[in-house]
Amino acid sequence: MRIGVMGTGAMAEALGGAWVRAGHEVFVGGRDGAAARALAGRIGAAGHGTPAAAAGYGEVALLAVPAGVAPELAREHAGALAGRTVVDCANALDPGPGGVMLTTGPGESVAGLIAAAAPGARVVKAFNLAHASMWDRPADCFGEVPPAVPFCADDAEAAGHVGELITGMGWSPMPAGGLDRAAYVEATAAFVIGVWWAGGSPRLAFPEPPRAREGVA
Ligand SMILES: NC(=O)c1ccc[n+]([C@@H]2O[C@H](COP(=O)([O-])OP(=O)(O)OC[C@H]3O[C@@H](n4cnc5c(N)ncnc54)[C@H](OP(=O)(O)O)[C@@H]3O)[C@@H](O)[C@H]2O)c1
Repeated sequence: MRIGVMGTGAMAEALGGAWVRAGHEVFVGGRDGAAARALAGRIGAAGHGTPAAAAGYGEVALLAVPAGVAPELAREHAGALAGRTVVDCANALDPGPGGVMLTTGPGESVAGLIAAAAPGARVVKAFNLAHASMWDRPADCFGEVPPAVPFCADDAEAAGHVGELITGMGWSPMPAGGLDRAAYVEATAAFVIGVWWAGGSPRLAFPEPPRAREGVA
């Protein structure tokens, strides 16, 4: 697949690099041209340029920018993003005095704000739950069962694109409903990161008997 990555930070590098290794054609678009060129060189991307060029590059565009920026960037490039699968990995979080807090309003999600800002884009929420450093690792380092990437999508073809990206990285796609459920996946990030920051291990809160893990009902 051809993928335009908008952003040159940690997630652009981690996901863009993983997709290059999986055999996809990745284009890095950054507002800082030197950073885009440097990142493209590091990950072996097919090209580099502006965020506008990345928006219009492929079947898929990744918004790898802060949550407060993503809807505005999507609005700015709504024309180029129309008809494409637009992956939103953003977490709208603030440290907050009592722990990590969502900055979105009740029931609101970054993914929903992006979809409203770029109505022709086929937005998919995905990749927001694991830290950037996880996408660099070989999937088998997590054990016999590949880790899952929950995603929310309204469009079947866009869901298929993201499923293919996830599978190609050796992870497992976890459909988590339509875009109206993205707020739950984003709130899950607030919970998980809050527990990590407090020194805990959130995965221990979701035990499964071995039979369920093997996929036996
Ligand atoms: N890091 C993680 O572990 C992680 C995990 C899950 C989800 N996320 C989410 O992934 C997204 C990206 O995170 P990150 O860690 O990659 O952030 P980052 O390293 O800070 O990179 C952010 C990128 O966004 C660009 N940017 C900022 N404002 C922009 C604008 N107005 N127009 C165009 N580009 C702009 C920055 O460009 P400049 O360098 O020019 O400022 C930079 O390339 C965030 O929404 C975050 O919540 C991050």
